[in-house]
Amino acid sequence: MNDDDRVTRRRVGDAEARTANRRWWDADADAYQAEHGDFLGDVDFVWCPEGLREADARLLGDVSGRRVLEVGCGAASCSRWLAAQGARPVAVDLSAGMLRHATQANTRSGVRVPLAQADALALPFADQSFDIACTAFGAVPFVEDSAALMGQVHRVLRPGGRWVFSVTHPMRWIFLDDPGEGGLTAVHSYFDTRPYVELDEHGRASYVEQHRTLGDRVRELVGAGFRLLDLVEPEWPEGHEGIWGQWSPLRGRLFPGTAIFVTEKPAD
Ligand SMILES: C[S@@+](CC[C@H](N)C(=O)[O-])C[C@H]1O[C@@H](n2cnc3c(N)ncnc32)[C@H](O)[C@@H]1O
Repeated sequence: MNDDDRVTRRRVGDAEARTANRRWWDADADAYQAEHGDFLGDVDFVWCPEGLREADARLLGDVSGRRVLEVGCGAASCSRWLAAQGARPVAVDLSAGMLRHATQANTRSGVRVPLAQADALALPFADQSFDIACTAFGAVPFVEDSAALMGQVHRVLRPGGRWVFSVTHPMRWIFLDDPGEGGLTAVHSYFDTRPYVELDEHGRASYVEQHRTLGDRVRELVGAGFRLLDLVEPEWPEGHEGIWGQWSPLRGRLFPGTAIFVTEKPAD
């Protein structure tokens, strides 16, 4: 199999996606943290490569004293920031490699948050056990059955609780993953929701990332019982020259790179 055959768009079931993504994030954890760890900080809540911080955006509302679930936490910087604000976070991730970094950052920072290895599609928590759930680019883009993930989060939230998550803005999927000029020309159909898949030498999925249209996301949320409060599309800030994968000042000044869904489980 040559390199050109190693990337495709095809349906991948959740079992295959889970295996692929766990292995991929385990293998990539050191490189991810080496590349992005300084930008993310040990005790900080950064929603996206545009650099929007929860300290400024306050999308979660008042977090003091609240039980917060962070799904797809990576090194769990967001949970440590939440703990520093007086919240009671629990951070979960599929990848032991990412959780190893979370453990190290707990020790390094002295802000220790509870960590658990879990699939967001099978959250090991009782119904209505959290006041808030959140993630910055964790879990949601990596599961086939994202409607089921919304259902899991809805189940563990108490009525009135918020669920806020950031993902790659769906319109980015029409472009190549290129931070430069090559990433300014539309080449894919926005309506093609087959995932981006990388294959190993045996033709098995080794990385799977899912695309949903904005309408798909809204339907999944409403279908699970959430109310959409806001859809935040952070602008690229003046003076931010950092590049994160396909996110760049060039593209960020022209169109959004991140979508943050702010939702709540109705109290009534
Ligand atoms: C792009 S990283 C984001 C990590 C962290 N939130 C951050 O901002 O750096 C995606 C994370 O989602 C996790 N993940 C992928 N699929 C998952 C699943 N099904 N359940 C839980 N976590 C998952 C990965 O292991 C990885 O740590």
